[in-house]
Amino acid sequence: MAHQFINYRQAHAIASEWGTPVYVYDQKLLESLADEVLAFPNPFGYTPRYAMKACPTRAILQLFHNKGIHIDASSTWEIERALKAGYTPEMISLSAQELKADELKPWIESGVTINACSFAQLKMIVELGQKNHIGLRWNPGVGSGGTTKTNVGGPSSSFGIWNGYVDEIRAWVDANGVIVEKIHSHIGSGGEVEVWKQAAKLTLNIAESFPTATKVDLGGGFKVARNPDESYADLHDTGQTIHQALIEFKEKTGREIHLEIEPGTYLIANAGALLCSVNDVMDTGKDGYQFIKLDAGMNDILRPTLYGAQQPMHVLQENPPTNESDYVIVGHCCESGDLLSPAPGTNDELFTRRFPEVAIGDYLVIGGAGAYCSGMSAKNYNSFPEVAEVLIDPEGQPKLIRKRQTLDQIVQNELSLA
Ligand code: LLP
Repeated sequence: MAHQFINYRQAHAIASEWGTPVYVYDQKLLESLADEVLAFPNPFGYTPRYAMKACPTRAILQLFHNKGIHIDASSTWEIERALKAGYTPEMISLSAQELKADELKPWIESGVTINACSFAQLKMIVELGQKNHIGLRWNPGVGSGGTTKTNVGGPSSSFGIWNGYVDEIRAWVDANGVIVEKIHSHIGSGGEVEVWKQAAKLTLNIAESFPTATKVDLGGGFKVARNPDESYADLHDTGQTIHQALIEFKEKTGREIHLEIEPGTYLIANAGALLCSVNDVMDTGKDGYQFIKLDAGMNDILRPTLYGAQQPMHVLQENPPTNESDYVIVGHCCESGDLLSPAPGTNDELFTRRFPEVAIGDYLVIGGAGAYCSGMSAKNYNSFPEVAEVLIDPEGQPKLIRKRQTLDQIVQNELSLA
């Protein structure tokens, strides 16, 4: 379950210094999650990568860099961002839905591994002069995600080369003297562990057809429990299955495969929270609802609106009252879609959460908000600025790692009519 790592005193100290809403991350937790990922079982060598799209803020990238974790980038822009945080090209692997030749060109031969995610991408990479160190992302034929929006495997998904084209790709690769170094797959986020294991084995089957491949990257997707009724993927157990599969692969083919995985969610989801203030409390009469309106919304945290995600929430008050009430939690943007407590399985049906009676000015912490929240917002909607981010260091001291955006920064690229 999402760790409640901020108490009232800390929340008050952070809010007094940097205002709310503000993202807060816990360094100790991040480091212990990194240690878990680093301990993934592997028989012949291993490189864990942080799927930086989960939260690409520089200090977070640096923290994982310090732990020896490499990078999974999803665009050439992310490559540049990782380099600015101190990564070297050799530490970065790119799997992108969009590749543009002019943007990719500088990275060819830089040391960044590029995983071709379609046949067209493969041809583009080769045309740009790269024939060695090629990675191929495959759709192994199965997928699983926490919602259909995060399932990226199987026939209804456009991610990776379809597994039915192994022979054609192999023939093309051979005909063009291309050296495939890595076989990659990623089938979804927050999906079922058993499907993940099945996909891993299907990916190894594909690797058999590419004798030059020395590495297999099995993507991310390990689910986490943000709420008490949810469960974590057991990394150790999953890793044991892969360990065994890699040993069998060696017995069958004589090849020792270097393993990679690239978790985002697992490394950071439960080590981040959005600290908000209650900006209004109102109701729609005796047959209606009571609403808590926050000073944050879909412009800061989009998961509830986009996926109907159930983010855990806690109210922090100096002197919590004893009576409780049921509240719908909404954001500060001007549409009913800015609903932070949707009913499970929906993104527009109102649902209530029970809290000690809430007053304007109380703090509300949205937990499980480290991954795909700060980095995946409807930024600047209603012209609200991108919020600040704070990291609580191992001594319990909060440090600013990203300033709140200013209005001038919001409009800086706009041009006036002549
Ligand atoms: N590798 C690749 C190629 C990916 O596309 C992703 C995530 C990952 C690794 C990391 O997956 P993770 O370990 O975080 O599940 N916005 C959604 C998640 C989308 C994930 C996109 N790709 C969410 O808020 O849950």
